[in-house]
Amino acid sequence: MTAPTCGRLIGASLGPGDPALITRRAWACLSGGARWLYPVKKAEESSYALGIVERGGLAIPADAEALVFPMTRDPIALAKAWSRAATRTVALLREGRDLVFLVEGDASTFSTFGHLARVVRELAPEVEVETIPGVSSFAAAAASTGLTLAEEDETFAVIPAAYGVPVIERLLEEFDTLVLLKVKPLLDEVLALLTRRGLLATSCFIEKVGSPDERVVRDVASLAGEKVNYLSLLLVQNPKRVRGELRRGCRKHAHEPA
Ligand SMILES: C[S@@+](CC[C@H](N)C(=O)[O-])C[C@H]1O[C@@H](n2cnc3c(N)ncnc32)[C@H](O)[C@@H]1O
Repeated sequence: MTAPTCGRLIGASLGPGDPALITRRAWACLSGGARWLYPVKKAEESSYALGIVERGGLAIPADAEALVFPMTRDPIALAKAWSRAATRTVALLREGRDLVFLVEGDASTFSTFGHLARVVRELAPEVEVETIPGVSSFAAAAASTGLTLAEEDETFAVIPAAYGVPVIERLLEEFDTLVLLKVKPLLDEVLALLTRRGLLATSCFIEKVGSPDERVVRDVASLAGEKVNYLSLLLVQNPKRVRGELRRGCRKHAHEPA
């Protein structure tokens, strides 16, 4: 008797909101008969990732299932939720059908998928995992605002703002552009830093990029005191940064042959 085969777990990146940014590979996977799983913060709540696919015109299969990943720091609640999500995922995979997990943005960038895949592999090492890459929120935000993340020898860093103002301030010395994700809880502190460093004019705030509710705020000081959406980020360009000498760069040195 042959052992029953396990389905594959596929993380399908959907981009940050505009269904036109779903890749052909993710689209093919969604339309290819795999069972859908999608993340929600609470049972019965809407899913941002599912909304992207709906706007793209794909019908949601009747057996698509929500997995709850609560937005909490409570370690006990988190552990319970993760265990429930991973156990359910493994049970479905053992039915033999592929599962596609819907991911907002890119699945390898601060995504629930990476952690889910790890926990699932701990429970069921035989599970094959595939990741379909996609457009990240900050790539779409740069495009939407017309700001570049880096040119030529410039440097850029992407960090959760929760590292706090001293770390952000230090990184401003090292990077020409900072992308501050999960900025909501620290927005006022970061705005005060940008004011102090004279960087308000070269910063831009973007909320729900690519979705019908996209909001771009160039006058970032006007956001002081506002409760913004969790799906928001700040792009901060630091044209005043003093750069070090490059050992090697994009530019050819005068003495090098063409
Ligand atoms: C858990 S991370 C997910 C990142 C996502 N996987 C990506 O590739 O961009 C959540 C943070 O990413 C940023 N983010 C995700 N989607 C966004 C969107 N549509 N618009 C603006 N920021 C977004 C926000 O800073 C948010 O707090």
